[in-house]
Formats: sequence, structure tokens, C-alpha cells
Amino acid sequence: MKENDIRFIKLLILVNGAVPLALLVWDQSHNKLGANPQNFLILTTGMMTLIFLTLTMAVTPMRKITGLNWLIQFRRMLGLYAFFYGCLHFLCFFSLDRAFSVASTLTEMLKRKYLILGSTALIAMIPLAVTSTNGMIKRLGGKRWRALHRLAYVAAIAGVIHFYMQVKADVRLPLVFAAVLAILLGYRLVNYWRQRKPVPAAALKPKSEA
Ligand code: HEM
Repeated sequence: MKENDIRFIKLLILVNGAVPLALLVWDQSHNKLGANPQNFLILTTGMMTLIFLTLTMAVTPMRKITGLNWLIQFRRMLGLYAFFYGCLHFLCFFSLDRAFSVASTLTEMLKRKYLILGSTALIAMIPLAVTSTNGMIKRLGGKRWRALHRLAYVAAIAGVIHFYMQVKADVRLPLVFAAVLAILLGYRLVNYWRQRKPVPAAALKPKSEA
């Protein structure tokens, strides 16, 4: 894939990722967010967070299955969009639902346990966003960076459980997200087991026998 094509796709992702936000701002300014605008804002930003998180998790399996290594170039942007919508989601809840009250937010968390899982997911994403720059990758070193970025699994699992727990009746959509995530994580697990090198037989023998 040519450098220009990569740049063009990045621009496409950048523009398309901003479309939900632009639509929300437009609808909000024209009073078109329905009967309960604050709930609409919270739900839509929550959904965008989960969609971008799932897309981010899909990049590596897609790259490995198709052999299209350039796909990796879009993972950071997708992950940052997930974090961006996650922050917006929390901000909508904190401002519109809790009137910027930390005490009321914490009390609500104790009452509605799914908020604790949502917060776990968002907090897990902070180190990922902070260390997403090339400079931080270099500073941490590839091995430590990859280990830290396993937090993405925590964020995705907690995010899906958060979604499942807050749904009132129809759990089909959370279950679809759970199934997709299970496939994506299952693929990684199988790959990990396959790549683990078998310990050489000689290394297992007691020293006296060697
Ligand atoms: C990575 C982090 C998070 C993800 C992926 C996420 C995802 C979601 C999703 C998918 C929904 C349901 C959307 C729908 O039904 O259309 C939702 C709802 C909600 N989330 Fe989150 N969320 C996250 C973090 C948080 C945090 C940190 C808070 C607040 C502390 C929060 C508060 C809420 C609330 C209040 C609702 C609406 C519940 C209702 O109206 O019954 N979320 N979230």
C-alpha cells in the first residue's frame, strides 16, 4: 500500500469518526435529539465508544488473517476515537445527569453497579491513550508497550459487561458485542498458544543426566 493511500484512508477514518459528533452537535442545536436529549447523548456516545473499541480490537486479527499488514496503521486512530467518545460519554453523564457533582456521581456508582464497570473500562483506556505516541512507544520499548496495551482487553470486556448490565429488557445487542469480542479475544488466545515455542527436551532433563 502506497504512503499516499494510507494517508487518504487515515483522513477518511478521521472525517468519518467525527461524523457522529457533528450530527449530535447539529441535532442538539436544532432541538432534534428527541424527548430525552440527555439520555440520547449518553446512549449514543456510549455506543460509539463500544463500536470504536471493537473496531480497534479487530485490527490485529484482520491483519493476521488477511496478511494486509498496513491495517495496523489505523489501529491508533480507532483506539483514540474510542477513548475520545468514552470521555465524551462520561462527560455527558457527569454534566447532564449528575450536574458536575463528584459526590453524586460516586453515590450513583454505588447504586448502579454497571457504572463501576464503565469507569473501569474508561480508566483502563487512559494509559493506552497516553502511551499511544511514537515517542512513548520508543521510551517504553516494544515489549513493555505491548504488555501495557493488554489493558485494551480489560477495557473491551468491562465495556461490554457495562452495556449488558444497563440494558433493561432486550439483551440481544450486548450479546452480539459479547460474541464478537469473544471471537476476537479467542483468536488471540489460540494464536498465543500456537506461537508458544515448545521447551526443548534437553532443557527438561535433570543436570546429572545431561
Ligand atoms: C469504555 C467505557 C465505556 C463504554 C464502552 C460504554 C458503553 C456504553 C454503552 C454501549 C451504553 C448503552 C448505549 C445504548 O443502549 O444505546 C452505555 C450506557 C450508559 N453508560 Fe456507558 N460506557 C463506558 C463508560 C461509562 C462511564 C465511565 C460512565 C459513567 C460513569 C457510563 C455511564 C453510562 C450511562 C449512565 C449509560 C445509560 C444508562 C441508561 O440510560 O440506562 N459509561 N455505555
